[in-house]
Amino acid sequence: MNMSSNPLGHSPIIPVVSINKLEDALPLANALLEGGIAVIEITLRTKCALEAIEILANKLPEIRVGAGTIVSCEQVQQCRDHGANFGLSPGVSVAVLEAASRLNWPFVPGVATASEMMLAMSLGYTIQKFFPAEINGGASALKGFSGPFPELQFCPTGGVSPANLKSYLALSNVCCVGGTWLTPSHLIEQKQWHAITALCREGLAQKES
Ligand code: 3PG
Repeated sequence: MNMSSNPLGHSPIIPVVSINKLEDALPLANALLEGGIAVIEITLRTKCALEAIEILANKLPEIRVGAGTIVSCEQVQQCRDHGANFGLSPGVSVAVLEAASRLNWPFVPGVATASEMMLAMSLGYTIQKFFPAEINGGASALKGFSGPFPELQFCPTGGVSPANLKSYLALSNVCCVGGTWLTPSHLIEQKQWHAITALCREGLAQKES
């Protein structure tokens, strides 16, 4: 696989979303687009996740759809078959990474330690999700990893918020951050799409400021 291109695309922020009701997938993705964010990670933590991925892949090609929380080779195949543009895992599984490589499907493994980074790197994965970011040392830990691993780029996720977003995005080895704060479950439940659009704009403005 050509790993020189970033599977996550170009957005500085990746919203991490669990879809409980299929009907919410399209309006939610439209709210993100309206707020300037053209990528979404849909976690495989709900029953309708695969269907939600398929709907967005078919009906909203403007948004780059990622499938998150992939922990098995079967899920790699399913998510690719349902049209996800890329996949993410909370950890490093050689079997899962090899399955994604065999399909030539863009994939981002999750890492928290130097050993995991080296293992994922040895399999050709140079864009990695630093997870869970805050409890594993946050921005200062990532800064530390830039010395031994200058070729790696990270998407820190887990505990990222408006309060620490800028400290991550300022690092040379951070390509983007991920998190659930742009799409809180209560706003999705209440179908507060304008509020989600506003959160996206506020998040992106942080990067510019
Ligand atoms: C994830 O699933 O990738 C993380 O749980 C997101 O973490 P957050 O809720 O702290 O943003």
